Order: sequence, then C-alpha cells, then structure tokens
Amino acid sequence: MKDKLFEQVYDYLLERIRRGEWKAHEKLPSVRTLAAEFNVHRLTVFKAYQLLKQNRNVYVKDKSGYYVQPGGILAMDSQQDPIVSAYVHESHLSEIHQVQAAYQFSKALLDPNLLPNHYFSEYVKKVFDLYPKVLGTYSTTQGDQELREALCRYFTNEHHFYLTMDELLITSGSQEAIDLIARVLVKARDAVLLERPTYSPAIDVFRRQGARIIPIEIHRYGYDLDQVEMFMQKYKPRLFYLNPTFHNPTGYTVPAVQRKRLVELAEKYQCLLIEDDPYRDIYFGEEPPLPFFSYDTAGSVIYIRSFSKYVAPGLGIAAAACHPSLMKLLLKAKSLSDSGAPLLNQKIFLHYFFSERMQQHLAKLRIALSIRKDIMEEELSVTDWNWSSPTGGFNLWVKLPESIQMESLLSKGMEQSITFVPGSICDPLREYTSWVRLSYSYLNEQQLREGLKRLVSLTRSLC
Ligand SMILES: Cc1ncc(COP(=O)(O)O)c(C=O)c1O
Repeated sequence: MKDKLFEQVYDYLLERIRRGEWKAHEKLPSVRTLAAEFNVHRLTVFKAYQLLKQNRNVYVKDKSGYYVQPGGILAMDSQQDPIVSAYVHESHLSEIHQVQAAYQFSKALLDPNLLPNHYFSEYVKKVFDLYPKVLGTYSTTQGDQELREALCRYFTNEHHFYLTMDELLITSGSQEAIDLIARVLVKARDAVLLERPTYSPAIDVFRRQGARIIPIEIHRYGYDLDQVEMFMQKYKPRLFYLNPTFHNPTGYTVPAVQRKRLVELAEKYQCLLIEDDPYRDIYFGEEPPLPFFSYDTAGSVIYIRSFSKYVAPGLGIAAAACHPSLMKLLLKAKSLSDSGAPLLNQKIFLHYFFSERMQQHLAKLRIALSIRKDIMEEELSVTDWNWSSPTGGFNLWVKLPESIQMESLLSKGMEQSITFVPGSICDPLREYTSWVRLSYSYLNEQQLREGLKRLVSLTRSLC
C-alpha cells in the first residue's frame, strides 16, 4: 500500500489545482505541512511533488518551494472551448463498457435473454390502465408513495428493517445514490474508507469530491476489524463505502459477526457506513447474512439497494434508506438534479417486482447464473490462475500469472473482441495489476466457453 501512497497525494493535489483552489504562480503548501496534514512521510509528499513537476503542473523556485505552473492542468482546462464543460471527470469502467465486443466479460449486467422480456409488455399495459395520466405526471422527488410503501413492507419482512416510507428515497440506480451521498457528505480532504478492491466508479466519484481515500482490504472472511478501528480512530473518516454481499469484484461476503461489530464501530467513531447491496438476491446456496442496516439503531448506515441488476436493468430503479436527518440532505441534492425517478418506471417496477411471476423468475435466474459460473470455472480449470469460487453475484475475481502485461492483454483482447475489467481500476491504489474481473452474467453458455478459450490462449501467448 505504502509505495503508491504518493500517487494518492499526487491525485489529490492535482484535483485541487484543477478546481482552481490555487491559482497560476501561487505557492503550494510545503512538503512538511502536507506530510503532517496527511500523516505520511515527507518523502511521500516529495515524490508526489516530483511527479507534478515532471508532468509540468508545478515548478520549483530554489529554496522557496513549489508553485502552480501556468501552462499545466489549468491551461488544459482553459484551452477548451468555453461551451464544453471544464469539469469533466472520467469513469474508468464506463470507458471499457463503451467498447463493442462479442465476448464482454467486462459487463456485470444480466444477459437480456434471461429476462422475461415478452411478459414486460403486460405490466406496461397494466400500468397505463391503472394510471392513465402516468405520462403526464412527475413523481415526487423522493419517489412514488405507493412504491415506497411497498418497499418499506418488503424490507421490514425480508430484512427486519425498522423503517418508514419517509426514510426511503427512490433513485435512478445505485450509482446515482452513491453520487448524491458523495456530493452531500464529502468535501475536499475528507477521509473516506473504501474497500480494496472495490466497485470502480465509486473510486471515481469520491476522488472527484477531492476525498482522501483510505483503502481497507477485503478478504474472503471480511475485513481486519482491528485495522478498521485503527483507521477510524486515526483518520476520522466521514464514511466507509462498502459492498459487503457478493462483493464486486471479488464475490466475497462479510460474515454476520463482523457486520454487527462494524455497525458498533461506526457508531462509536461517527463514521457512516454506506452499504451498497445490488447482488443480495443472486445467491447460489444459502441466503446471505442480513444487511448491516438491520443491525443499526443509531442511524449509522445508509442502505442502497439497486434492482437494476436483475429485475429490469432498463428501468434503473434503486432505493436508499437512511436516517431522516440525512434524508433531508439527500432530497435537497436530488431536487437539484431531477424531479424524481421517472414515474412510469417506478410504477412498472412496482407491479412487476411484487408479482408472483417475478419471484418465480428469480429462482430460475439463480440457477441459470450458477450454471454460467460453473461453466466459467470449468473452462478456467485448465489454467494455473487463481480465484475463489463465489457463492453469489455476477463476477469472478481472477489472478493471472504475475508476468502478464495487463495493458497489452487488454488491447490485444479488444482486437479479438474480448473485454474484461483490469484489476487496477478496482483498486484505489491502482495495484492488483495481474488481477481481472470476469463477469459470467452477460454472455450465454456458448459465448462463455468460446470467449474463455480465446482469453486463455491469448494470455498464454503473452506470458
Ligand atoms: C457494487 C455496485 N454498486 C453500484 C452499481 C451500479 O448500479 P446501478 O445500475 O443501479 O446504478 C453496480 C453495478 O455494477 C455495482 O456493482
């Protein structure tokens, strides 16, 4: 972790320069000041400054310090057409998703053929019959009342949540909920704990806020809770973003004992837990442990449940549950971006999700996905690659031989119409350079076999 710490300091400084917090020719804080602020060795800050200098973002005045270079990142922004947004931030994952390929192991999305597509129209018709004015109406910003009531009952019955519908917000997917939370709760230099590895766009979102990211390793058995406690004590993080059930990308599930303990730690150190839970229903054996939110009595957890992964990705519906004081803030932020998730989508989702057909369909889906996972593992069994078999979710987190050059595997893979997610983009420290995330959810059985044969042979040729 330590040898890449300087890159985090570098990213952080660059972000602040880009935001215009320091102007051209303005003096930057000394190495000593930043080292004390970040609680890191001075050499780490020195290395970050050297990299900034090398990339012409800062210049040095002898015995005086570092200054913002006028032709650096500032100029890059100002050279743009002023009509084009000057504050564009990249999402590494979405860049990969834009590549058209026949064998998309990069997509943690359901194969559309596994959805009951021809039944959907029945629900659409039902919604128009029940609510003839649905297209002429906005939802409320917080979300359709009927849907929130139904979800409240569902969460109470399924997960023992203690919740009223005023504590639920409907968003257009969990990505939006993460973004709203980051906007509302995180300002530049706030410490944020992130699992390592983690869902890549979450890194991008918290980085955009200028957060100081503190990685917490996730293992097959969960976290090192002593380390978590130490970090909560030392860095006083604003929040800990986690995806503890069939985690993306590893597939790991944090056990129940750790969930209870972590909620206690969150309360003790006033660190919010952001529990992102899109894969909970996709289990291959036993049901996973209850969400963290079920153990929370002090309002220390925000629970995000996306349904876009397997119910109807095209509807893009998620729900966020939290304490009323936080809900007020999220609502304010949401009202600045839209007037609520589209009402038509919410109504279709409501009638489809709570139908008997959906529940039967879900059981079939679990079987179909577990077969796809088995096929993937069978194809990979001819290699000496390492992974631990997930008990749910969409992904296999695979370690390739150390000698692999990931950049060249990715570009040669694309030439052969194969995409996957390189491990480094799931890592706040940009390591895990010989790991990949391979999703088994999007491709059918033949495509999985053929694509993996190609990927294995390509990888061997590059080792
Ligand atoms: C952990 C995690 N969070 C959030 C999302 C985004 O979900 P949504 O499509 O609901 O925005 C994903 C999608 O891959 C995910 O894996």
